[in-house]
Amino acid sequence: MLHGETPGHRQKGDMTSADSHWFEKMATHMGAAYLRYSFTKGTKQEVDFIVDRLGLKPGMRILDIGCGPGRHANELATRGFLVHGIDISESFVEIAKSKAPLGATFERMDARKLTFEDEFDVAICLCQGAFGLMTAQGEDALVLRGIRKALRSEGKLALSAFNAYFSVKYHTDAEFDANLGVSHEKTEVRNTSGTPLEVDLWTGCYTPRELRLMLDLAGFEVQEVLSVDPGSYKEAPPSLESSEFLVIAFASPSHREGSL
Ligand SMILES: C[S@@+](CC[C@H](N)C(=O)[O-])C[C@H]1O[C@@H](n2cnc3c(N)ncnc32)[C@H](O)[C@@H]1O
Repeated sequence: MLHGETPGHRQKGDMTSADSHWFEKMATHMGAAYLRYSFTKGTKQEVDFIVDRLGLKPGMRILDIGCGPGRHANELATRGFLVHGIDISESFVEIAKSKAPLGATFERMDARKLTFEDEFDVAICLCQGAFGLMTAQGEDALVLRGIRKALRSEGKLALSAFNAYFSVKYHTDAEFDANLGVSHEKTEVRNTSGTPLEVDLWTGCYTPRELRLMLDLAGFEVQEVLSVDPGSYKEAPPSLESSEFLVIAFASPSHREGSL
């Protein structure tokens, strides 16, 4: 699975503009080859589960944060939803646009600087779609606050995050920083021609308790946290055995911007 951040490799204040993010180099190299990774193959199952779990109805407006090449956004649009995907990677945005059915739009935007206000019924942020790649102090929280602002009152959220327990227990090739809750590994990614690129992957990992606390502070009411794996979203209580947690939450009507 591709996930990461470089907390030790940047200075405070770096990469806060939409002009640069470490993931872009990797995304540009991979291009459409990203969609060959096994963790991207379960899109339909993931969308089925989210539509059912959140009780989504065609016509609803959905924001997909860190949409990548648009696999969830485009699948949702084929089902009659109006989806807008944002991603920091221009090359992923271009791939998403090239496959977009009616109802799906995309733009390059930094999830730390979301510009939407009360515009969406639903937000999805899946497979470390920006959240979890923002391991610099406070940046994941910034992403959540932007999502909350983009949602209408009682708007719905599905967000996945890497499971910290799983990372410690099973990610034996990676180093886990117990202070930051970040997992680091070196690996290589390939482009469509098979050319490798060596990369450092840094994953912000979470426990259900941390997710509930963060979501609460950002103005959400958490309905449930489930233990899931890519392509196998299901109703399962949090455990040490799944690679991700899926949070289902609602934008709290009582939350006021600036109350944090
Ligand atoms: C592992 S991919 C997940 C993509 C997609 N959600 C999926 O499930 O296939 C993480 C995505 O987050 C995007 N991303 C990382 N940092 C971002 C940021 N600051 N703003 C917007 N997108 C970002 C990356 O470009 C990448 O497309």
